[in-house]
Amino acid sequence: MEQKLLEIQNLTKVYTLGSVISRIHITAVDNVCFDVKPAEIFALAGESGCGKTTTAKIVLGFEEATSGTILHNGKVEDRKQKAWRTEGIQAIFQDPFATFNPLKTVDSYFFDTVRNFRLTENRRTAIEIINQKLHAVGLSYEEFAGRYPNEFSGGQLQRISIARALMTNPRLLIADEPVSMVDASLRMAIVNLFKTLRDDLGVSVLYITHDLATAYYVCDRIAIMFRGNIVEMGTVEQVLMQPRHPYTRLLRESIPEADPHKRWQTTVNLSELEHEEYLRVGCKFAGRCPNVMEICKRQVPADITIDDVLVKCHLYSESPQAEPAAAGAHR
Ligand SMILES: Nc1ncnc2c1ncn2[C@@H]1O[C@H](COP(=O)(O)OP(=O)(O)O)[C@@H](O)[C@H]1O
Ligand SMILES: [Mg+2]
Repeated sequence: MEQKLLEIQNLTKVYTLGSVISRIHITAVDNVCFDVKPAEIFALAGESGCGKTTTAKIVLGFEEATSGTILHNGKVEDRKQKAWRTEGIQAIFQDPFATFNPLKTVDSYFFDTVRNFRLTENRRTAIEIINQKLHAVGLSYEEFAGRYPNEFSGGQLQRISIARALMTNPRLLIADEPVSMVDASLRMAIVNLFKTLRDDLGVSVLYITHDLATAYYVCDRIAIMFRGNIVEMGTVEQVLMQPRHPYTRLLRESIPEADPHKRWQTTVNLSELEHEEYLRVGCKFAGRCPNVMEICKRQVPADITIDDVLVKCHLYSESPQAEPAAAGAHR
């Protein structure tokens, strides 16, 4: 049987918004299933507000799921034993400047990790370990010791946060939009780093992004999310080069930018479109789909597997009711 490092089964997260009078429920993550294998880079992609960060937060234990199961190395996570979350899984966030306190030297974070995880009591050995992790991301201890976050570029700081994540020899990195705040010219180099870590250290990465181009270059498999659902999933080659779902096709044409100000916010302001789509009956993409059919407005499409690719779209179902809507009808 194929080994799975992380397995997400029927993960659902419902948020309740609004006042007592006008309360609405948003299923930000809707019955999501996927897995990440050892030494694999798996992309969770989709435009802003589709449930990527919510999924990551639940896997990291920052947020409770409404329902669903998370297996780590084939075992159900034990809520009381959070060790695997901190040792086996490490997170890399969007804004490297928010990761580090501007008043603390960056090396102090590494020495804290050495202490907290009792990696060694010897300072010289600690520096060796730190240097080794910095080398893995193309930096060295000399160019980093005693310096403050503002003495580094965003790209360097993101490399430093990756090195720090590596301190505990994690099996899985969860990287939520790790390069969207980094200069465009440096993005590929950082994303390529994930490939090196996969190949040299056997680390897996759950790479969360709205950017299909970087996903295509470094990922093995990809899941495309839309309003809480995975609408297409398979190898990057299959999904991005022969997209089947109309949403994947649209996303390929027009890659939306992530909003750099929208981080792990707690106050939520749903756009009207987001609202409308989350609450839509039938297929959530029906309102924007160029291939919309009558059935799409009534019935949620099933997950269909074609050539090992999962597609959630009525175009591929053999339902006899799948009749095309009147020409030009997009709603
Ligand atoms: N704490 C929260 N309370 C209520 N709604 C939330 C909360 N966090 C996220 N949401 C909503 O859930 C949906 C998915 O959000 P998110 O997971 O951040 O998407 P993404 O990371 O893909 O941009 C969005 O509509 C968002 O507004
Ligand atoms: Mg997000």
